[in-house]
Amino acid sequence: MNKHAIAVIPGDGIGQEVVPEALKVLETAAQIHGGIAFEWTTFPWGCEYYLQHETMMPSDGIETLKSFEQIFLGAVGMPGLVPDHISLGGLLLKIRQELEQSINVRPAKLLCGMKSPLADPQSFDILVVRENSEGEYSDVGGRVHNGPDEMALQTSVFTRKACARVMEYALSVAQRRRRHVTSATKSNGLAHSMPFWDDVFRDVSQAYPDIQTTSMHIDALAALFVMKPHVLDVVVASNLFGDILSDIGGAIMGSIGIAPAANLNVERKYPSMFEPVHGSAPDIAGKGIANPIGQIWTAKMMLDFLGYEDIASVVLYGIEETLVENVKTADLGGSATMTEVTERVIAHMKAAA
Ligand code: NAI
Ligand code: MG
Repeated sequence: MNKHAIAVIPGDGIGQEVVPEALKVLETAAQIHGGIAFEWTTFPWGCEYYLQHETMMPSDGIETLKSFEQIFLGAVGMPGLVPDHISLGGLLLKIRQELEQSINVRPAKLLCGMKSPLADPQSFDILVVRENSEGEYSDVGGRVHNGPDEMALQTSVFTRKACARVMEYALSVAQRRRRHVTSATKSNGLAHSMPFWDDVFRDVSQAYPDIQTTSMHIDALAALFVMKPHVLDVVVASNLFGDILSDIGGAIMGSIGIAPAANLNVERKYPSMFEPVHGSAPDIAGKGIANPIGQIWTAKMMLDFLGYEDIASVVLYGIEETLVENVKTADLGGSATMTEVTERVIAHMKAAA
């Protein structure tokens, strides 16, 4: 029996509802597999915790998390209770940074049974691999002067180490996919950082002669996501470009309620963190109507990262069969409740086993 100690942070709003649903699915996966035992430890960190303790997590919270194999997170934020820069900065971003989760992976795949807003989406299956630790989001810059002389300076930081790390990850996952990596660049506008990014991509690609590589300017690539997403396989991008592309990816899949994500520490020095793309959805929290698929697909990504790719694919099968039989929550135009969707996913997984 392989034991896995997982830290669970449901967080705020619908995070508290969809996380338990995904844990049911993970328990089902463990049961079907027969050789996996999960040990869940739940932490009540979030906005309500902040109101009681004036901090989003205890001062030794990061140390506590380091003793777990992975982190499974719902969503953080309740703008009516705590300003977003405090809640996200004090928990989510802190974990991503301090546990060196320097790669953000976001699939954009048209699931069976989903309707894309695109007229002719074909069956696209893209993996956006985003640099998550530096680039355009480096905290370097400042504001000076007042009035008409006021100015702001924001500097990007690109290191060979971080660029190579995200590119190597993208190239190696492509080996298990359709063997194509598209690198997002803008070397015609950003005359220093992007030619450097392109150089590192060319250097790193040498070690992957089996992978076909393409560099595309971010503007043209954004258009390609809309016009012909099916021609793309793995897309590697800097922090800002990856942020934008993965939102387009989420949009063409049909709903933010289904989109999954992972923040990876690829060296496995510290735990990685698995969390859906959506937030805490305060507008529908507490009603039992949140779509659990984003969190369940996120659980599937955690199974993949733990090395259980076979059982992970059974989870995705359960999700797709549920969508195909049209058991859908309101965000997908259906009338099913959150638990009804989970129950169908689990039933399909058991039937396939
Ligand atoms: P949001 O993703 O929470 O909601 C946007 C819209 O999508 C809402 O209408 C919501 O009802 C709907 N939605 C989202 N997830 C859904 C689901 N699973 N099922 C059905 N409908 C769903 O984004 P919003 O409203 O901008 O942010 C709310 C809070 O969440 C804020 O505090 C924000 O900072 C935080 N947030 C946290 C994230 C995280 O923890 N990774 C990511 C994005 C936002
Ligand atoms: Mg975003």
